[in-house]
Amino acid sequence: MDTPVTPGFFTKPEHPFGDEFITLRTFTLSDSDDIVALCQDPEIPRWTTVPTPYGVNDARTWLNAQVAQWAGGLEASFAISETSTGALMGSVGLFRDLADPTTSEIGYWVGAAFRRRGVATRAVTLLCDWGARVAQLQRMRLVTLIGNHASEAVAKNAGFRRVGEVLDYRSERRPETSSHVTVWQQQYPAN
Ligand SMILES: CC(C)(COP(=O)(O)OP(=O)(O)OC[C@H]1O[C@@H](n2cnc3c(N)ncnc32)[C@H](O)[C@@H]1OP(=O)(O)O)[C@@H](O)C(=O)NCCC(=O)NCCS
Repeated sequence: MDTPVTPGFFTKPEHPFGDEFITLRTFTLSDSDDIVALCQDPEIPRWTTVPTPYGVNDARTWLNAQVAQWAGGLEASFAISETSTGALMGSVGLFRDLADPTTSEIGYWVGAAFRRRGVATRAVTLLCDWGARVAQLQRMRLVTLIGNHASEAVAKNAGFRRVGEVLDYRSERRPETSSHVTVWQQQYPAN
């Protein structure tokens, strides 16, 4: 059972959660080799902030940073693993909007071998439900670079509504980078 906390503050769940196909669990340092292997696919750095080239030191640095992120409560990143095998399939995370504790942005990637089976759509749906329940989020934002049709399909399938395009989008996490994006949003009732 999750413990209710301050709105917009992410508390690390005690147990993984998910369904018969995917499980969301927190990352551990032992995921580094699998993350490196999956992130060699150029589609991941093409559409996300994952750097390229991407090596084991990048993965370890990111995994170590997750410990601080959970302590700070503003980001909640999860490994997407296959429920039947435990294989790492991807990553999905919520990032609190600093100006509005009831809003978070969601980001994700799925390894090439696991795509087009509904993995990302399930992961986004599960994590948004978790964020609404545990961190009392009321609004989820999803931002897709223009041309990322697979991610647009995920947004639609997960129930997001297209808000519009932004020519000079700068995320709070990377204000130095400007991108042309489509912004999507989903509302959750206050609980
Ligand atoms: C986007 C991504 C996460 C989707 O993962 P996934 O597990 O394959 O997603 P799903 O299976 O839930 O849904 C994929 C949808 O995209 C569609 N799709 C896939 N490739 C497509 C393409 N080139 N053009 C149009 N639609 C495409 C699929 O048909 C499916 O939609 P449908 O179920 O309505 O048919 C994955 O492709 C990925 O990791 N890409 C690189 C990183 C990335 O783009 N991250 C998101 C940044 S916003």
